[in-house]
Amino acid sequence: MLLQARGIVKRYGTRTVLGGVDLAVRPGERVALLGPSGCGKSTLLNLLGGMDRPDAGSLSFQGEDLALARPARLAELRREKIGTIFQFFHLIPSLTARENVELPLRLLRRPGIRGRAQGLLDAVGMASRSEAWPAELSGGEMQRIAVARALAAAPALLLADEPTGNLDRESGEAVLALLSSLSEREGAALVLVTHSETAAAICHRRLRLFDGRLQGEP
Ligand SMILES: Nc1ncnc2c1ncn2[C@@H]1O[C@H](COP(=O)(O)OP(=O)(O)OP(=O)(O)O)[C@@H](O)[C@H]1O
Ligand SMILES: [Mg+2]
Repeated sequence: MLLQARGIVKRYGTRTVLGGVDLAVRPGERVALLGPSGCGKSTLLNLLGGMDRPDAGSLSFQGEDLALARPARLAELRREKIGTIFQFFHLIPSLTARENVELPLRLLRRPGIRGRAQGLLDAVGMASRSEAWPAELSGGEMQRIAVARALAAAPALLLADEPTGNLDRESGEAVLALLSSLSEREGAALVLVTHSETAAAICHRRLRLFDGRLQGEP
């Protein structure tokens, strides 16, 4: 198993948002996470990515316990093995499109940075805009850059929180097609938080978060 969560509990004050979540994700598997607003989808995604810690339960990533990992180790895992994509893109405005894609590789001091970034810019159809600033790009273009950046380090896991929530239908569909084909090509698993049944269709499995627990769909 790539990712195994058992009995995950998360509380904010006296309020229990996640009341015992079990989830297992296999390498390369795509899982959609659906559920009403405020049910805890982003909370769960943050836990899976080591951006926050559960109050109870166990969470292992490639056999390593994230609930017990030190902050520096969590940061390392996020740089090397976990790519994240957000609703509002979060590109770095002072870096060009190409530099945004290269950044994770620079942090890791990987060899062949130019070539890897160029290949991904090509794959997301943005090679001709590689020297553009984020402010010069449309939402759909920014999100395609964010997909390339999330994949740059060849992570084992991609986490996407409503990646099409801020895009028109056509741009959203283009981003979903890329997420699907590139996660497949790169062998990355994907956990996709979405409100959209269309978006969920790119996944192998759909799970619904309700009342603090995950339910499979028939
Ligand atoms: N840092 C926090 N402190 C207190 N409460 C929080 C915090 N983060 C989230 N919550 C609460 O936890 C609940 C779940 O939030 P979360 O953002 O995970 O929901 P969501 O399913 O992602 O919703 P949406 O679909 O609107 O994005 C919400 O009621 C929210 O107000
Ligand atoms: Mg959310």
